[in-house]
Amino acid sequence: MSWQPRRLGIIGGNGWLGRAMAEAMLGSGWLPPDALWLSGRTLPAQPLISGQPVHWTTDNQQLLNQCDAVILSLRPQDFFALSLRAENTLLISVMAGISVAELSAHAACSAVVRCMPNAAIAIRGSYSPWLASAEVSAAQRRWVQSMLSTWGSEDELEEEDHLHYLTGLSGSGPAFPALLGRAMSEHALSRGLPAHVVNRAVEGVLVGASPLLAGQNEGPARVAQRFLDYQGTTAAALITMIQEGFEQAIHHGLQAAEQAAFNMTPETMNSRTPDSVPVGAPRTKGDS
Ligand SMILES: NC(=O)c1ccc[n+]([C@@H]2O[C@H](COP(=O)([O-])OP(=O)(O)OC[C@H]3O[C@@H](n4cnc5c(N)ncnc54)[C@H](OP(=O)(O)O)[C@@H]3O)[C@@H](O)[C@H]2O)c1
Repeated sequence: MSWQPRRLGIIGGNGWLGRAMAEAMLGSGWLPPDALWLSGRTLPAQPLISGQPVHWTTDNQQLLNQCDAVILSLRPQDFFALSLRAENTLLISVMAGISVAELSAHAACSAVVRCMPNAAIAIRGSYSPWLASAEVSAAQRRWVQSMLSTWGSEDELEEEDHLHYLTGLSGSGPAFPALLGRAMSEHALSRGLPAHVVNRAVEGVLVGASPLLAGQNEGPARVAQRFLDYQGTTAAALITMIQEGFEQAIHHGLQAAEQAAFNMTPETMNSRTPDSVPVGAPRTKGDS
């Protein structure tokens, strides 16, 4: 048996991720434009999505009345200020750190899905792990899978702890490769190479070569070992990086992100100032 909502809504549809999700679902032809409702506190200057007219509102209750499935795409700190009753709605949250139990209690809703896409949704290459409360039916889960496939790839998880962890890992999108790129650029520039050459060289490593890692489990470990076994110049770099604590720094960073996702409570969110936003909470467009 299949399940199909009459209409799908996105609260926070005017935000970076809300718009990217809408573009992916409409652009792929998965959803017709008249089945999509989007809300924001303000209406956008550019209301078309993928060049098509959709329903916009600043009234979240109106959106909830129209839609059987609603995606929550607010910044986590705005969620608890939202008054929401979504009893008969399939509620899907992309917000970092807010648990199924908190979503369910605050929105008076039992069928809840949490998922964690990343910024690659803009090129429909997001990896979006997700999990569902017991009240989400098998047919609704298949519908969720089909929606997430328009954003990229997906996996259903059994444990919410794993979603917290992946918020820090895959939810980070291009952040960790970008940090690697920054370190490589700084070093190359300090050696006097021209900036345009450095930019193209680093992009060649991060973007040009990384498709070689696609589609294989254990791929990165095997590739690294192959370079270590070859015992060339790259092995000299890898051995030094490993000895200097490269892997340990990554492990500590991921642990810090996981901890930040666990620690997101209404109290910590409301006490945040722009300079004290912890890892896992977005502070600029495109961050998880
Ligand atoms: N960006 C990413 O790569 C990414 C990845 C994974 C998960 N996430 C999660 O996705 C969520 C959204 O992130 P984002 O980057 O899209 O943030 P964003 O660009 O700031 O979008 C959030 C939107 O929520 C709207 N909003 C706030 N309060 C509202 C309300 N009461 N009713 C309706 N709309 C309201 C805001 O509208 P106004 O501008 O009108 O106030 C804003 O446009 C966050 O929870 C984040 O953790 C983001």
